[in-house]
Amino acid sequence: MNHDNTVLIGPSLLAADFSQLENQISLVEKAGADLIHLDVMDGIFVPNISFGIPVIESIRQKTDLFFDTHLMITNPLRYIEAFKKAGADSLTIHIEACPEPQSLFSEMRQLGLKVGLAVNPQTPVDKLFPFLEQIDVALVMSVEPGFGGQIFQTDSISKIIKLRSEIEIRQLPVHIQVDGGINLTNSSSCIEAGATQIVAGSAIFGNPNPNQIINKMRK
Ligand code: DX5
Ligand code: ZN
Repeated sequence: MNHDNTVLIGPSLLAADFSQLENQISLVEKAGADLIHLDVMDGIFVPNISFGIPVIESIRQKTDLFFDTHLMITNPLRYIEAFKKAGADSLTIHIEACPEPQSLFSEMRQLGLKVGLAVNPQTPVDKLFPFLEQIDVALVMSVEPGFGGQIFQTDSISKIIKLRSEIEIRQLPVHIQVDGGINLTNSSSCIEAGATQIVAGSAIFGNPNPNQIINKMRK
C-alpha cells in the first residue's frame, strides 16, 4: 500500500461525559489520542442536536489536540469562518448536504483548514471520487449519522476498499476515516481495508482503560 501506514485514532467527544469535558479530553489525550473528533449536529441534517461553536471555543482553551470537526448540518457554508475562529483544525462536510462543495473547499483552504468530505451509509462511495484531489480526508460513515453507540454496518468495509483502490490509482495523500460503531472487533478490518483514521466514541469513552483500547485499535 502506498499510503502512510500510521493509523490515527480519534475519540469522538459525543460519547464523553459532557459535565466534565476538560477531564474527558485530558483522559484521551494522555491515552494517546491523535485527534479529537467533534460531532456537530443541527437537528435538521440529522435527527439529533449535539454541541456547536461555543463549546468548541471553550474546549480549545484546554487542549492542543487536533480538532477534527464533523459537521452534520444542512448549511455548513454559513459557519465555516466561525468554526475556524472557535479553533477547528479541520471541517468535514457531508456530500448529501453539499452536492457541489467546491466553493466551501476554497473557503476552508483560504482559512487554513484541512478539508474532509463524508458519505452516509446509503450514499455510494463513488460520490466522493470527483473531489479526491481537493480533500485531505474522505469519511466513510459506518452508521447512520446522528447518534453514538450504534452497530457498525459491515458493508462499509467494501466502500473503504473501493475508495482506497481509487486513492492508490491516483496516488493521492488522502486519509480514509471511518466513523460509527467501531470497536476492537471491527477496527482491524477497517484498517486492513485501507482506513487510516479510526473514530470511536463509546468504545473509548465507555471503557475504564482508554489507553489500552487506543493502543490496540492502532494495530
Ligand atoms: C455519529 C457520529 C459518530 C459517533 C461515533 O453521528 O458521527 O462520530 O459519535 O460514536 P460510536 O463510536 O459510539 O458509534
Ligand atoms: Zn462523527
